[in-house]
Amino acid sequence: MISSEADTRWVRIGSDDDFAEDEPTRRSLGGLDIAVFRVDGKLYALDDHCSHGDASLSDGWVEGNCVECPLHQARFNLLTGEAETGPAVDPVRSYKLRTDGTDVFVEI
Ligand code: FES
Repeated sequence: MISSEADTRWVRIGSDDDFAEDEPTRRSLGGLDIAVFRVDGKLYALDDHCSHGDASLSDGWVEGNCVECPLHQARFNLLTGEAETGPAVDPVRSYKLRTDGTDVFVEI
């Protein structure tokens, strides 16, 4: 199925100060779990579920522009969701974020 911009929407996930530096945060939106990261003041969002196994990336460690999976230590790029190191091969979905005042929204 081909999706278009009309299929996307912005959903509020919290206030700017809900997301602390070096403290990944999970947000559940219906059946969707999203991990939100703050690095050098900037926010990033990835699918929370590791593409390799049953692990939550919001339980991982941020190093530079990557998050390291807590189970087998694959590293995912916070900007693109690409798996930069194994054992994961497949990317995780990355999400666009925007702020409006102090409100933070994710595009789903
Ligand atoms: S479950 Fe994440 S690297 Fe294996």
